[in-house]
Amino acid sequence: MNYQYLMPTKIVHGPGSLSQLGQLCKELGKKSPLFVTDPGVKGAGLLDEALAVLKTAGIEFVVVDRVNQDAGSKVVDEAVRMAVEKKCDMIIAFGGGSVLVAGKAIALVVPNGGSIVDYEGKSVVKNLPLAVIAIPTTAGTGSEVSKMIPVMNEEKKHKMSIGGDAYFPRIAILDPLLLRTLNQRQMALTSIDGLSHAIEAFFTNMTTAITDAVALYSIELYSKFLKEAVYTDSIDSREKVLLASALANMACGNSKLGLAHALAHPLSGLCGVPHGVAIAIMMPYVLDFNLPAAYDRFAQIGRVWGVEERNTEDCAVKAADRVKEFIRSFDIPKTLREVGVQEGIIPQMAKNCVVGLYDVFSKQEFDETTLIKSPNIRKATVKDVTRLFKEAL
Ligand SMILES: [Fe+2]
Repeated sequence: MNYQYLMPTKIVHGPGSLSQLGQLCKELGKKSPLFVTDPGVKGAGLLDEALAVLKTAGIEFVVVDRVNQDAGSKVVDEAVRMAVEKKCDMIIAFGGGSVLVAGKAIALVVPNGGSIVDYEGKSVVKNLPLAVIAIPTTAGTGSEVSKMIPVMNEEKKHKMSIGGDAYFPRIAILDPLLLRTLNQRQMALTSIDGLSHAIEAFFTNMTTAITDAVALYSIELYSKFLKEAVYTDSIDSREKVLLASALANMACGNSKLGLAHALAHPLSGLCGVPHGVAIAIMMPYVLDFNLPAAYDRFAQIGRVWGVEERNTEDCAVKAADRVKEFIRSFDIPKTLREVGVQEGIIPQMAKNCVVGLYDVFSKQEFDETTLIKSPNIRKATVKDVTRLFKEAL
């Protein structure tokens, strides 16, 4: 099979690697960064540490610390104006997934003009984006190694699809010391999303030898270190989980995501269920759905998860059970009812799986045999996803 694989971001990984930030800016030949972050990071005391590194290196910077949840287009456009006014020549994005997305969005618009909403669906732009150094302070989104920039269009109330091969951050700093202020629930939810990226990347019709290798190692790291990362202060386990999160995105950035994400999107878009919660609830049902179509692949997961059955089918069944138990062992919601989802919304959510994420006004005809939009390894119909939503109620 012929294929391509792309991930051009330089990764700087390890405890204390934030201390290299000033040097890395200089290596890029940049002098005037726009430092993008959010109020949570500022409140957690991490911001001062990062800014101190820049000051020590003699780098002058401008701070934008108002990035909101879902990276709204208004904040991005305001930050673009500031970056242009202050003649910033690069972006440092320091925070969770929304901050990293906002940083990449600002980098795209500054040299090309207009508003971020003008870039929906554009995978190529005239001028290269500004260089971005992405520094995650949560582990799970993997946005630091992703070319996708899903900014929320606040006027139309939908997440825009923006992604291109030139949109990757130039550098990602993976410093596990920055995860130390996360509580158990934050650590569990963001990491189960990360684990789902690795698993889903392994169960699409776009997998390759490279994405398989990367996804399997990510799954192995989560299986061995996530519990310790959630329930202890271990820096070693945080380091492994942060790496696993980046690896998961390096896999799914190329082989795409499967059915759990197709189901999670309308749960967030129509019912306001946070992404990590939606994934944690739906993933076990999707594993059951995929199992009969992919015994070999489940058995491969079983081998990295420590399942000792020799027979492929037995190993596969045990692997699916282990992963389901693992996800459900964390103290997070287990059913859709718990997070306020009503049965009456299920037909609309199923329709959204067909017509796309937020396009609730689409006139596309469909019935229960219509296939939903997803490269999932086992094709799913409207009837299938309706059943999965009902089972998860
Ligand atoms: Fe996700």
